[in-house]
Amino acid sequence: MKIPFNIPFISGNEVTYINEVIENKRFSYSGVFSKKCELELSKITGCKTVRLTASCTSALELAALAINIKEGDEVIVPSFTFVSTANAFALRGVKLVFVDINPKTLCLDENLLEKAITPKTKAIVLVHYAGLTENIEKIVETCKKNNLFLIEDAAQSIDSYYQNQHLGTFGDVGCFSFHDTKNIHCGEGGAILINNKNLLEKVDIILEKGTNRAAFLAGEIDNYTWQSLGSSYGLSEINAAFLFAQLQELKTVTKKRKAFYSLYQNLLKPLKEKGFIDFPETDNNHNAHIFFIKLENESKRDALINHLKKQGISAYFHYLPLHLSEMGKQYKYIKSEKDFSASESEKIVRLPLFYGLTKNEIELVGKGIKQFFTV
Ligand SMILES: Cc1ncc(COP(=O)(O)O)c(C=O)c1O
Repeated sequence: MKIPFNIPFISGNEVTYINEVIENKRFSYSGVFSKKCELELSKITGCKTVRLTASCTSALELAALAINIKEGDEVIVPSFTFVSTANAFALRGVKLVFVDINPKTLCLDENLLEKAITPKTKAIVLVHYAGLTENIEKIVETCKKNNLFLIEDAAQSIDSYYQNQHLGTFGDVGCFSFHDTKNIHCGEGGAILINNKNLLEKVDIILEKGTNRAAFLAGEIDNYTWQSLGSSYGLSEINAAFLFAQLQELKTVTKKRKAFYSLYQNLLKPLKEKGFIDFPETDNNHNAHIFFIKLENESKRDALINHLKKQGISAYFHYLPLHLSEMGKQYKYIKSEKDFSASESEKIVRLPLFYGLTKNEIELVGKGIKQFFTV
């Protein structure tokens, strides 16, 4: 038996749309499929201005340039996140300030923000871990009160909502990933939602290598020139065609993943009630991107991962907190008394969850975990 951790979703229409691109003979960013995807993402998220990017990493780097981050500025990021959240701002020479997480949501602890803010703070980056964020209002309020930009790293959050509002639409910009580890994907890809209209022109210039090519393509000017710092952040039309095929099936994908998520919850409830494991119960309408359980400590967690591996089941842990990494050690870390970024990361086990999984396979994973606790 082999149960992989993830098999990227395929809708079946990807090749048809890619063939259309070949017929259209327009392969670079902002072709027909880029526009179609941007429109579709606008409909899903409710944000009118969406741009496709080469990755979520690109979207975050683009955001850092758009808010004109400079050396000497400080940016608050959670320690419990993927490296791109931090790199995008560190690349501009800023001082990162890591902040601890709330152990329930695994997202930024909003109560530590006031402690982390200094006169040099320019932005807060909110990472929506598995769509579990709560108390977004308080974070938005803190940003308004202190005149800070709010960047949402919504890499994992397509089709995830907080109080019926799509994640990525609360801050100045929201950054999404369509990497093949995500619910829907195009190999490598991403998007940026521009909620703050004042940033739109800047985003369009930065995304087009720092030129006003977007205005040129719209027929507003006769030629385009270098306007500001920028890079090649747009998504290729071939990837956009692939992504469009996936976007059309988004609701089907979410529905199936949510059913699998509930199945895991039901199967593992007895272990939770006995206090062997924990897992989130949330009212948030999230996209079931990650189903994780928490064990008592690191050695139990590693033992369970090995136990499952012997049965052919792939399960993983993540993230190693950034404040403990070689690169991250140089930055300040505002922690709660328990250092939850470190302690929670030692407990997490992510279980297989993907569209092509079967009910039977999930039951086998559940059985493997139950066995572990009765041995
Ligand atoms: C929270 C977070 N931010 C950013 C990224 C980077 O996304 P991408 O691979 O699209 O650059 C990831 C990737 O998994 C992520 O989990």
